[in-house]
Amino acid sequence: MSSVLKTYNLTKSYKNTNVVNKLNMSIEKGDIYGFIGKDGAGKTTTIKMITGLVKPTRGQINLLGDINRNKQVENFKRIGAIIEYPGSYGNLSAEENLKIHKKLMGIKDKSSIKETLKMVGLEDVGRKPVRKFSLGMKQRLGIARVLLHKPEFIILDEPTNGLDPVGIKEIREIILELNSKREITFLISSNSLSEVEEMVNKVGIMRKGNLLEEISYDEIQKKNLTGGKASA
Ligand SMILES: Nc1ncnc2c1ncn2[C@@H]1O[C@H](COP(=O)(O)OP(=O)(O)OP(=O)(O)O)[C@@H](O)[C@H]1O
Ligand SMILES: [Mg+2]
Repeated sequence: MSSVLKTYNLTKSYKNTNVVNKLNMSIEKGDIYGFIGKDGAGKTTTIKMITGLVKPTRGQINLLGDINRNKQVENFKRIGAIIEYPGSYGNLSAEENLKIHKKLMGIKDKSSIKETLKMVGLEDVGRKPVRKFSLGMKQRLGIARVLLHKPEFIILDEPTNGLDPVGIKEIREIILELNSKREITFLISSNSLSEVEEMVNKVGIMRKGNLLEEISYDEIQKKNLTGGKASA
């Protein structure tokens, strides 16, 4: 198994408070890793450090096999992230949004926008402006945009937040398909284990900046952390 992400005592302090405290997390190729914690636990801050948006106060990050920060800038091209909310142009259609993104990011690849829309179940939205999309549809468009970069590792910050059970199921199916068919590794943060338990194979539990445990899905079931909700 090759390592996609490893953090070593990763720490972020704001005003002498460690909002992320000595985090040692580990994600292997092929994992769908659930990063679980309540509001303010430090999930987004950790994700921002991984993606280079926030500078760690202490500790190290090994991203796609590289611990050297300069080389990691190259590695950022191999990852895709949606942090906090997926933004898009509300007056334009899904297809137009993806076209613009491709142009802005200088993506030369001929990969078809239609095929990408199909991957996320938006092939039938036609010319409907994105402002008329449901939250789940907007999340899926965000995933489509990230897919245009052909990433090996996708980070989604609370993709199920605010979705109803149907929307959660749709996102789950897309993630599982991308994981099995395109071998994309995922890091998915969530406030609640029950929202992601059916898609993840490993979870890290955050509380007040600390990673309390990191356990495989098999162990979760054994420990019955979800009060028996997870079916065998
Ligand atoms: N730029 C900043 N300056 C000061 N404090 C910050 C900053 N960014 C985050 N924090 C604090 O760090 C802590 C962790 O925040 P973070 O956004 O990482 O949590 P989270 O787990 O993503 O929460 P949520 O589930 O609400 O998104 C919070 O107490 C927050 O107030
Ligand atoms: Mg957050």
